[in-house]
Amino acid sequence: MMKQPAYPVEEWSVREKGINLDTLAQSESIFALSNGHIGLRGNLDEGEPHGLPGTYLNSVCELRPLPYAEGGYAYPESGQTVINVTDGKIIRLLVGDEPFDVRYGKLEEHERELDLRNGVLRRNVRWTTPTGRTVKVSSTRMVSFTQRAISAICYEVEPIDAPLRVVVQSELIANEALPPQSKDPRVGAALESPLEGEEHQAEGTRGLLVHHTRVSGLIVGAAMDHRIEGPPGMVVESESIADVVRVSVTGQLKPGERLRIVKFIAYGWSSLRSRPAIHDQVMAALSAARATGWEGLLAEQRDFLDNFWANADVELEGDPEIQQAVRFALFHVLQAGARAERRPIPAKGLTGPGYDGHAFWDTEVFVLPVLTMTMPHAAADALRWRQMILTYAKERARQLGLRGAAFPWRTIRGVECSGYWPAGTAAFHINADIAYAVTYYVDATDDFAFEKEVGLELLVETARLWRSLGYLNTATNQFRIDGITGPDEYSALADNNVYTNLMAQHNLRAAVEAVKRHPEKAQELGVSDDEVASWGEAAEKMFIPYDERLGVTPQDENFTRHEIWDFAHTSPDQYPLLLHFHYFSLYRKQVIKQADLVLAMQLHSNAFTLEQKMRNFAYYEPLTVRDSSLSANTQAVLAAEVGQLQLAYDYLGEAALMDLKDLEHNVRDGVHMASLAGAWTALVCGFGGMRLQRGVLSFAPRLPDILEKLAFHILFRGSRLRVEVTATEATYRVLDGSPLRVIHHTKEILLPVGEAITRPIPAIEAGPRPNQPPGREPVSRQKQVEKTPE
Ligand code: BGC
Repeated sequence: MMKQPAYPVEEWSVREKGINLDTLAQSESIFALSNGHIGLRGNLDEGEPHGLPGTYLNSVCELRPLPYAEGGYAYPESGQTVINVTDGKIIRLLVGDEPFDVRYGKLEEHERELDLRNGVLRRNVRWTTPTGRTVKVSSTRMVSFTQRAISAICYEVEPIDAPLRVVVQSELIANEALPPQSKDPRVGAALESPLEGEEHQAEGTRGLLVHHTRVSGLIVGAAMDHRIEGPPGMVVESESIADVVRVSVTGQLKPGERLRIVKFIAYGWSSLRSRPAIHDQVMAALSAARATGWEGLLAEQRDFLDNFWANADVELEGDPEIQQAVRFALFHVLQAGARAERRPIPAKGLTGPGYDGHAFWDTEVFVLPVLTMTMPHAAADALRWRQMILTYAKERARQLGLRGAAFPWRTIRGVECSGYWPAGTAAFHINADIAYAVTYYVDATDDFAFEKEVGLELLVETARLWRSLGYLNTATNQFRIDGITGPDEYSALADNNVYTNLMAQHNLRAAVEAVKRHPEKAQELGVSDDEVASWGEAAEKMFIPYDERLGVTPQDENFTRHEIWDFAHTSPDQYPLLLHFHYFSLYRKQVIKQADLVLAMQLHSNAFTLEQKMRNFAYYEPLTVRDSSLSANTQAVLAAEVGQLQLAYDYLGEAALMDLKDLEHNVRDGVHMASLAGAWTALVCGFGGMRLQRGVLSFAPRLPDILEKLAFHILFRGSRLRVEVTATEATYRVLDGSPLRVIHHTKEILLPVGEAITRPIPAIEAGPRPNQPPGREPVSRQKQVEKTPE
């Protein structure tokens, strides 16, 4: 098993003291910097050693064949895989005659810090060469939130005890060699040398590389320039070949003297623009960054983050480790979405090649609600991307003999890339998930211009899909959706999955309402009165099965009739089950990979009474193995709602520490964006009890004993709201904007601007704590906190 990285608990930083070469790949994901457009893994400046080199540009991918032993109609034949583009992070150093490499000589000091308030990755090193010369090296790296094509590094070298000759080589490198990948299906395919050279240039302190991807034909440009400060006599040389540009700075440094190099790196890519156009684009971005300067970029970054934290920060008293984790989580969610701008937000953001860089429903159900409440325009942009890929989704629906749009289960540029259809094509809920994110965004922002231009079309096309995918059974007068796969990937091709049916019902109703608000636009989309009536009827008659015998809502119509998985004879090392059992075995049994019906109870809170939620939660807990990182946060939310506050707290710990503690042993391939977003959700929707249902914002806060206070901020309809929760009461204050009407534990309150309104928290009678499958109980968070030294 891989070792776990360990980061000391700090409020606003993730720091690594020393360097652990065994966990290099993990820390590269943790320390990844991104703005949603560019993604840089936290590789060491000198490039080696590395776990996995990685530089990504959102949507730059290559095509690769998806071979099948036995093909079938409409199986996707070509997959898209994120590629490692030109690496501009590399800065190598020669000290005397020795290359700086942490594996040689003596590493006296090594520290890296991800600074969540300044949005930079700092590194401080003291290194003694094998021949006994000591240097201080420090670097600060950033990917700019304000200039989306720009990344920059400030690199400094200083001799400690004796004069030294140093050579700093700053590079752009394309087609870096990648280590071989494992067979785990969650790991992405590594494509060798995906870039073909088009242009290379070096002149003075500047250099540029333009390439194209071999099959997908995208043009990718990277350029760099440097500001060099040092004692007189520094020599600057530059050279280029097809895959490398190098600017070298050579000189003598005395103790007390310092060489400081600021490297500006610009990226650009296009599927349409020409090589000269991309060349000019990156050069222009570089000019703007140079004009701003290093200090200017830092100042812009800090301003951007100050604004974000004022709108989004979550404060916690009683558990500093989770405090750190939730800020780290929000930072990565921000990085994934801030400047994605009509491009996908992949399951790993731009932090690693896991899942081939694909975006899934993770975005709409887990990430976008967080962005909607903290940085709404980023959520809107992610949905605009869905609108942009509607052409493919409509084509896919036609291929499948359906109307409207069938969005891909996993993709980068819009076409279906899932080769396993029972958990791909059949997971139609993704369409309703997108519709859900649209209504969540519109309800939270009142952005009806967006609804008219973007939301309506998404709602209409997905409503059309549901109307043609399901059917009205005239004998029972029910609208049924048969043979689909819900969120739980250990059940497939089930009839009337409750999550899917509730989401589809919501989708159909939302389409009916949006059409009423925008009749002219609806006409342009060819919507007829009959069609709208048929959506309304399907929603009204949507079949939501119920198991009278057990008194619970079944996950799907037949689920509770299946045999229960033999948990007693499943050993701890057989998890995740998908790597040890054939799907055939899993599909026939009651065993749940990830929250499904439990998620339905979170997103459609009003469709269940509290008593039903308690019974259902108690039923599903012993069947849910959490083989997906998407599960713990949802279980936290429902556990909190039904009064299982300690259990909710344990799940919060799991969701929030998924990456910092590498709980699933795969953070090397990138961070888990849904689980990171889920840390916020577990706190805000779990202990804060926040729900947004049919335009009504409600809270039902309640804390576990150990947490003394939880405070969070959200943006809602142009107002900024701060909610503070303690053991006995909750205080709401609209910090700016206009008054808000919210619900606190079923009672409506009007919140004026600037005034704190406090309400008591009623007690809840919870049943006994439910069990989980043996060996799958979440770690007790309380015990962890008690163990942590002050
Ligand atoms: C989960 C899916 C999820 C995907 C990407 C799978 O393991 O079952 O629900 O979309 O990972 O995160």
